Amino acid sequence: MKRLIDKLHQEQMLTAEEFHRLLANRSEETDQYARELANQVRQEVYGNKIYVRGLIEFTNYCKNDCYYCGIRRSNQNAQRYRLTEEDILECCRQGYELGFRTFVLQGGEDGFFTDDRIVQIVRKIKEQYPDCALTLSIGEKSEESYRAYREAGADRYLLRHETADPRHYMRLHPLEMSGENRKSCLRILKKLGYQTGAGFMVGSPLQTVDDLVEDFLFLKELDPEMVGIGPFIAHQDTPFCNERSGTLDDTLFYLALLRLMLPNVLLPATTALGTIHPRGREMGVLSGANVVMPNLSPVSVRKKYMLYDGKICTGDEAAECRMCLSRRMERIGCEVVTDRGDYKKRLA
Ligand code: 5AD
Ligand code: FES
Repeated sequence: MKRLIDKLHQEQMLTAEEFHRLLANRSEETDQYARELANQVRQEVYGNKIYVRGLIEFTNYCKNDCYYCGIRRSNQNAQRYRLTEEDILECCRQGYELGFRTFVLQGGEDGFFTDDRIVQIVRKIKEQYPDCALTLSIGEKSEESYRAYREAGADRYLLRHETADPRHYMRLHPLEMSGENRKSCLRILKKLGYQTGAGFMVGSPLQTVDDLVEDFLFLKELDPEMVGIGPFIAHQDTPFCNERSGTLDDTLFYLALLRLMLPNVLLPATTALGTIHPRGREMGVLSGANVVMPNLSPVSVRKKYMLYDGKICTGDEAAECRMCLSRRMERIGCEVVTDRGDYKKRLA
């Protein structure tokens, strides 16, 4: 298996059959080997710098009904909220002072936020913070909508593909959603010049090794600037309430493989990873991740943006999370930097 890991490192690609073998024949030793190699590659490309993104969860209304997600429309127990434009700008102001130079506007697919409203918010943020990157994470839209946001100044877009296998996709989502549309959105985003982020959940219900092979092949083909992966974690008010979580070891191994396959990719150690293990994010960085995404949402709404049970940091002010992460990163020899943290096209 080490041979396959070396091959992935050298050639940044494996065949489907090789991925299958690598994913189906895990051992502690090869896991460790991949993670150390990925950590080296991260250092070669990004040094000891860790980029931060200020996450602003601005609405938990959602028209979709994904079986895994706590803010799905059928969840009657979710207390719905929307931030106002002023609230959002206030989050940015605080964030800017704390050294954030990327803001991520994330929300459910909420019809209240029409294209005009999103465009206006994007314009205002970019006007007030011209030295900052703005990332949107608001789901599947039409090409026209994506173009309008881009022209308004949005730099990046996060839209996890969730799973690259169409049948697995159907088992995680109701009939009105399709994996094909999701992938088509991602291709459009790339075409429009967004730094684009795809990604999948680790250990989502019914995920097979074949599904994961497809995820890796799809990501190689799409060649996104960012990849978000984190463990699936059950939410009590969803159809998947009794399903097992994705594991730490699986997530760290896949992070490592992603760093080897896409050496320059912007790869967050996610909040979900920090939720399943107290040092999850640190271990994520030591396995190849180079981004952390602390929460800038007002504490008053934090507990309402519950995609899964037990989410960390729901009681902490933005400043606390920022300092906490700086300390955590320092302890593993890394440094959280004040920087937009754009994608690096070439090796440093
Ligand atoms: N566990 C882990 N991740 C989840 N997401 C949504 N619900 C869950 C869950 N129960 C992830 C999805 C989505 C991102 C914003 O959060 O991958 O794209
Ligand atoms: Fe939020 Fe540590 S990152 S408290």
